[in-house]
Amino acid sequence: MFANILPGAGRGTAREASGGGGALQATRFRWWRTPSTILRMVPLPVPRRILLLLTVPLWTVPLQAHDNYAAERNAVMLDRAQTKFMLSCGGCHGTLGESPPLSVPVLRGRAGYFLCTPQGREYVIRLPNVSRALMSDADLAAVMNFVTFKLGEHSVPGKAQPFTAAEVAEIRARPLNALPLNAFRRKVVKTLVSRCGAPADMLDYGKLH
Ligand code: HEC
Repeated sequence: MFANILPGAGRGTAREASGGGGALQATRFRWWRTPSTILRMVPLPVPRRILLLLTVPLWTVPLQAHDNYAAERNAVMLDRAQTKFMLSCGGCHGTLGESPPLSVPVLRGRAGYFLCTPQGREYVIRLPNVSRALMSDADLAAVMNFVTFKLGEHSVPGKAQPFTAAEVAEIRARPLNALPLNAFRRKVVKTLVSRCGAPADMLDYGKLH
């Protein structure tokens, strides 16, 4: 009763019907068939043929290894500060500092402007999400240097100095939590626009449209 669902059952019947012609054809070399067809032509006893057949999956290993190394060479490598930024900040600011500008301020090509004034430099560390980030002072300094100097690109003023762990420790102890954050940001950014060449559309974030 299982005969017609077993693999090859139909073929066997057809071969019998053709009067043994199938046996003759099986010896012909058919390169497009499975490796076992080729192995049938190998002059080895059957147990050795089976052993050889078992090695088939290994034949492509050199090719696979080559692919693995290629993928590794092309992989993007993130340093510690970039990884921390991605995990703690990337959800809102985007992994490359690009976010929907009306919802979250864009950091890419802009974050560096804040280093133009002492108030701006403090503002970026005093932000609640920054000052309270679960990071040591040294890690936060490295993340903010990545944000302002790397993501900030051309926006960082020539004379700007990197943040140090000691500076971050002092500023983050005074988080912005007793004033309207948005109004404070507008005050800071207005100065950056009028004095530091920051683009006026930095004021679009938080505006009611
Ligand atoms: C929950 C979302 C969120 C997270 C997480 C977050 N931020 Fe922000 N970030 C904001 C918002 C919203 C503002 C605007 C704040 C305001 O209105 O003053 C902002 C402002 C900033 C600014 C100033 C840019 C500007 O134009 O005002 C910087 C720099 C910044 N964030 C860096 C970071 C860093 C670094 C982290 C991670 C340690 C981080 N943020 C985590 C939402 C977030």
